[in-house]
Amino acid sequence: GTVFARRIVVVGTGYVGLTTGACLASLGHRVVCSDVNAEKVAQLSRGEVRIHEPGLAELVQEGIAAGRLEFVLGSAGAVADAEVVFLCVPTPMGSGGGADLAVVESVAREVREVLPAGCVLVTKSTVPVGTSARLRELVGRPDVAVVSNPEFLREGSAVHDFLNPDRIVVGSDSQDAAERVAALYARLGAPTVLTDAASAEMVKYAANCFLATKLSYVNAIAELCERLGADITDVTEGMGYDRRIGQAFLQPGPGWGGSCLPKDTAALLQVAEAVEFDFPLLQATISANARQRERMVAKVVDACGGSLDGVRLGLLGLTFKAGTDDLRDSPALEVARLLAARGAELVAFDPGLRGDEPGLPLTLVDDPYQAAKGAAALVLLTEWQEFRTLDWARVAQELEAPVVVDTRNHLDPDALRRAGLSWRGVGRTP
Ligand code: UGA
Repeated sequence: GTVFARRIVVVGTGYVGLTTGACLASLGHRVVCSDVNAEKVAQLSRGEVRIHEPGLAELVQEGIAAGRLEFVLGSAGAVADAEVVFLCVPTPMGSGGGADLAVVESVAREVREVLPAGCVLVTKSTVPVGTSARLRELVGRPDVAVVSNPEFLREGSAVHDFLNPDRIVVGSDSQDAAERVAALYARLGAPTVLTDAASAEMVKYAANCFLATKLSYVNAIAELCERLGADITDVTEGMGYDRRIGQAFLQPGPGWGGSCLPKDTAALLQVAEAVEFDFPLLQATISANARQRERMVAKVVDACGGSLDGVRLGLLGLTFKAGTDDLRDSPALEVARLLAARGAELVAFDPGLRGDEPGLPLTLVDDPYQAAKGAAALVLLTEWQEFRTLDWARVAQELEAPVVVDTRNHLDPDALRRAGLSWRGVGRTP
């Protein structure tokens, strides 16, 4: 394909940075990715990708082979002849719940004097509204524009999401800089929202907090269904046909987690507090999510006859969702911790986790049947596809009591019943 003359630098090779770099290279751009970790740079230069993202390793290897993608140590040297610099560095939850901008700011300080005139500095990391303005001041270069271009990548389908975006959002006080960044994505043919920097930053928080609210709402409706004898699966299907609601993101479960929704809900709440805006709606979204984990624990307690002390439980899934090896803010792991705190002895299987995971309150085993062996109940916590097609007769043989608690309504109750297992889900009674 065509190699564009544009030289793009991506600072940070986490899942956002590496996906951005590799995908932009696959669109024909020349991309240099920088990282502060020498070993990571060496691995990536050899085409070795340690991040669990379908299609990412292939894109990295293709980019390297085509001469469009390279990896370098440190950002200062990399940006010297850049036209666009993407900041894809972590913005973890700081003390007080707000986003910690230390890394973003230190990179900005590091590059501010070496950025070439006319270059555009883009924040892709999720940063509080107002950060672009702050960065502009910090960089202090009238000849360098600052642009906000939030990402909407889901972990586990980041490459797919990048190449098939619902929309591209680009915000800047410089119309020209915003258009130049939007042009990088032109081949994707996605609707593009060109706006100011604060609005672009707000889109990201508003979207993630809306998604979190949608889930907390569904989880509450599921609880209500249980008490009123309705079936959440049919209820969400019926809701989802309304195009204003949509079928996606309506699956009840042990609550929402991961590295984004919990951090972003806390950060928006803090931003709101800072401008003295009372936001009980978002507060309720967050507190309902904490309660949701407790509800799942109560379900397990109930299934085990009232006490978990010394009770052996098999767990299916620990990652925050299927298709990843990520345990950050995982609702499944949080439920496991709560079960352990009540005295349960936990044996878990997760297809995304192999070998040793230090600090877990449980024993990790290599297959689901080992997790079921001798357990008083099997508890599904993460929706891995392969759990749907377990050999339920074998599970029934392994279990001490024939009970399966399915916190994500992921399994087929009929298949379990045929194997003599009693299925307990969320928001529906079989
Ligand atoms: C989320 C957003 O979906 C992305 O659009 C966004 O770009 C990303 O955060 C980010 O800010 O970087 P991600 O954290 O990868 O993506 O995970 P999701 O697929 O959104 O799942 C979040 C949590 O909600 C998981 O714990 C998942 O199990 C749960 N969930 C999701 C449900 O319980 N039910 C659903 O129907 C969907």
